[in-house]
Amino acid sequence: MFHLEISPELELRLLTEGHSQLLFELIERNRAYLRGWLPWVDGARTLDNTRRLIRASLRQHARNEGMNVGIWYHNQLVGVVSYNYIDHVRRFTELGYWLDEAHQGNGIMTTVCRAMTNDAFGRLKLDRVEIRCAVTNQRSRAIPERLGYTIDGTSAQLDWTSDHYIETVVYSMSATQWQLQEANTAHDSANRRRRQL
Ligand SMILES: CC(C)(COP(=O)(O)OP(=O)(O)OC[C@H]1O[C@@H](n2cnc3c(N)ncnc32)[C@H](O)[C@@H]1OP(=O)(O)O)[C@@H](O)C(=O)NCCC(=O)NCCS
Repeated sequence: MFHLEISPELELRLLTEGHSQLLFELIERNRAYLRGWLPWVDGARTLDNTRRLIRASLRQHARNEGMNVGIWYHNQLVGVVSYNYIDHVRRFTELGYWLDEAHQGNGIMTTVCRAMTNDAFGRLKLDRVEIRCAVTNQRSRAIPERLGYTIDGTSAQLDWTSDHYIETVVYSMSATQWQLQEANTAHDSANRRRRQL
């Protein structure tokens, strides 16, 4: 069962049926704004629908083809991050995410996506992680940009939301680029610590 403690206040746990009520309440609180960006929101109109979505994602997880993970901040469910699919042949995945509106602006999702990128390249041994964002979704785009992902291109008909296509920008990170970046970050912080001594 996937469980990752990123810090004492921030944890990731695989979503299971027991989380249906909590997840449904969180979606209800954020429905109006999520609807603008995420195509599945209208499919989670009731507790029962939400439970069905969790069951489907658990079946996907059992096949090792993706997973939906709850984000717990100070022991409260505040959002979801997912591997929307995992392609083991071409060794890549796509990250998806959303966060309770009241918990935005604190770097939670950037920290979570860093941990998931590490997980994809470490535990899952994939070669590439993609993040797709609506071109106009600046908050979402800021996440791969903060993490050093690069833009592969844009597409007018790759993604759909509510009732229309949205123009999408595709970001990606390779395992090699990530390792290099992480090594440079570790090197820079070691140098900073040395200078402070
Ligand atoms: C996309 C989404 C998750 C971004 O949420 P977010 O709170 O902006 O992202 P983070 O949690 O990483 O927080 C970043 C913010 O915290 C600030 N921050 C504070 N401490 C930080 C830290 N240690 N690291 C990074 N950012 C930090 C950043 O400056 C930024 O604030 P700013 O936008 O005012 O500059 C959220 O807007 C959302 O759920 N949107 C709807 C669903 C959606 O669009 N999903 C994506 C589909 S592709």
